[in-house]
Amino acid sequence: MRIRSPSPLDREALVEIIAQGGPFRPEEVSCAIELLEAALARAEGNTYESLVVTNDADDRPCGYVCFGATPMTEAAFDVYWIVVAAEVRGQGVGRALLDATESHLRGRGARLVRVETSSLEGQGGAARFYDRAGYRRSGTIEDFYRPGDDLITFTKKLA
Ligand SMILES: CC(C)(COP(=O)(O)OP(=O)(O)OC[C@H]1O[C@@H](n2cnc3c(N)ncnc32)[C@H](O)[C@@H]1OP(=O)(O)O)[C@@H](O)C(=O)NCCC(=O)NCCS
Repeated sequence: MRIRSPSPLDREALVEIIAQGGPFRPEEVSCAIELLEAALARAEGNTYESLVVTNDADDRPCGYVCFGATPMTEAAFDVYWIVVAAEVRGQGVGRALLDATESHLRGRGARLVRVETSSLEGQGGAARFYDRAGYRRSGTIEDFYRPGDDLITFTKKLA
């Protein structure tokens, strides 16, 4: 496994991972693709960034993370989206990607990482993934996404 910056050539593989990565709602797929496009474009004033994890054999992406500096904060960052291809989940790929993101951000002086996720994402699997990675549950908004589906804010101090 290799973790590197994305190139526009990775777009097709990443869109496939998002589209098959569900069960995402159609609006979640559109939002993820929109953020990915922004991260690949890296236009001026655009804060979205990404790292991809690739197979050793052909350097094809099998997951990615999208993150960015949180506007109006001093060195806080958001992790907006992390997806690992369904066929390689549960093998430490997501954790490696999140660890690489944190170490990349530490290198840039990041103080805090925030992640917002749904309590029902992956039947609660996404929340457990952040628990296992040492994130703290800093807040919950009950019924935020829809009745019975809470927004959980996770944070991790990097400095
Ligand atoms: C969440 C996701 C990125 C995890 O990636 P992964 O490669 O499967 O996770 P890892 O194998 O690195 O797991 C790391 C730890 O999290 C735990 N974990 C990961 N997915 C989990 C799940 N669905 N349920 C419970 N625990 C889970 C693992 O058991 C492991 O724990 P450990 O430290 O005790 O060994 C992946 O399942 C995914 O892409 N899901 C769909 C998209 C999504 O929900 N993204 C997050 C919200 S943006």
